[in-house]
Order: sequence, then structure tokens, then C-alpha cells
Amino acid sequence: MLDFFNKKENMDEKRNKLKRELIPNHIAIIMDGNGRWAKKRHLPRIAGHKQGMETVKNITKVASNLGVKVLTLYAFSTENWKRPDKEVDFLMDLPVKFFNTFVPELIENNVRVNVMGYIDMLPKKTQKAVYDAIEQTSNCTGMVLNFALNYGGRAELVSAIQSIASKVSENKLEIEKITEKVVDANLMTGKLAPYNDPDLLIRTSGEERISNFLLWQLAYSEFVFTDTLWPDYSEEDLLANIYTFQTRDRRFGRLKEEKK
Ligand code: FPP
Repeated sequence: MLDFFNKKENMDEKRNKLKRELIPNHIAIIMDGNGRWAKKRHLPRIAGHKQGMETVKNITKVASNLGVKVLTLYAFSTENWKRPDKEVDFLMDLPVKFFNTFVPELIENNVRVNVMGYIDMLPKKTQKAVYDAIEQTSNCTGMVLNFALNYGGRAELVSAIQSIASKVSENKLEIEKITEKVVDANLMTGKLAPYNDPDLLIRTSGEERISNFLLWQLAYSEFVFTDTLWPDYSEEDLLANIYTFQTRDRRFGRLKEEKK
């Protein structure tokens, strides 16, 4: 994986290989491979999710220390309800466990929690954990830890279209004034402005799909796929993935020579 890391280098030397001015502002991660991690160890799938939660804690601190502005994590999709009840119940309990144990460290690291998704469809205990964490970290001014919980990109676009259409039908918005900015503001990422769109999307576990994640916002993101399973994903993996990002030539549709 990490051709650019020398095995003898310590973590500080590895960190110093990154260009500080090119740390992505917004990183989004599709945390995949919890089930396979557990299967390899002859453990139930939920053991993989539990270990995945520990990875979330570690990567949150690492990203915050690197100066990332927004870390968006795909924790539960609108399609994940199709999993067995026992697994869904466990996944719905994870935010409760996570915030119960981790909010003090989030505050210590000046990290603010945001959650995007259809929260009112979650069990009451999950909603409470989420809203409490948002409230408890509301004065933090550092990185935003943005969980996508019961989130789906197509559903998000439908909701945005409905909200824009209702403004038009109430004569609060003219059709000609519907711009990309208006769409941005009506998406669930509107609150993350000016960092609505991920600069870097990472998917773990070797799968190379976007699985209904941030369909509008990923238009110009760089994609990096890694074989590491999410519970094994470490600081070293994140540094290596950011290094790959820093070697990319982002042109946003322009030619290489143009610098406007
Ligand atoms: C995908 O792995 C993972 C999920 C659907 C759940 C992601 C949840 C976590 C990482 C836990 C952290 C959550 C919080 C709120 C702190 P998979 O089960 O599809 O793995 P597989 O493809 O190997 O079966």
C-alpha cells in the first residue's frame, strides 16, 4: 500500500511528508468492511461494527489534528434497513455508545458534531444521543464531524427538489433564480458551507462504488480506494490516502495550463 512510506520512518516523519497547504478541507469516508473484518476472526458481524466505532474515534482525532475542516462519515444508509433486525438494532445503538463515551474528547479536540439524514425515522434513543451530542459540542469551532445517518443521496435530492418546488409554488422563488447555489443550500450539506463538497472521498475494503452517497456533492471530488477493512484503517492509511490526493491534478474541468 504505502510505497511512499519508509518502514523505518516514525509517525512524525510520515506526517511531515504531507504538504500542509494541501490538506483536503472536506474528507468523506465510506466505512466499509466491518462484516468481513469480523468474519476473518470468526466473530459475529456486530463485532466488526464495534471495532469500526473505535476506528471512528481514532480517525476523528487524526483528521482534526491534521487541520481537516469537515469529516463526513457514512454510518447508516437509507438502504441499510434491509439488514437483519439484530444488526440494525446494534447499528442504531452505536451512536448512543459512541457519544456517551466520546463527547468529552470531542470537546477537548474542539470538534463539533453534525448529523445529516432522516433523523426523525431513527429510534428515539438514537435521536436523543444525536441531538444531545450536537448540543453539547455546539460551541466547538474546530473540525465538524458530520455523520450521515439514515442518509441516501437520491432521497436527499428528492427532498431538495420538493423544498425548492414548494418555494416556487408559494411565490418565494422564481424558476429562473434556481441556481447551483440554491440547490447547494437546499441539500443536507447546506449547513457545511463553504465546505459543502468533499475534496476527497475514501472508500475502504476494496469496493469501488459510491453506494448512493453524496451524489451531487461528489461531482469534482477525488476518489481514493483502499483495500484496508474499516476496523483496521489507521492513521497511516489516512496519511497515505491524503498523500495520494496530493499527487492528483485537480482541474475542475479546466485545462492544466490555465490558472484562473
Ligand atoms: C459497512 O460495513 C459498515 C456499515 C454499514 C456501518 C458503519 C458503521 C460503523 C463504522 C460504526 C461507527 C458508527 C458510529 C455512529 C460511531 P459492512 O457491514 O457492509 O461490511 P462488509 O461489506 O464487510 O459486510
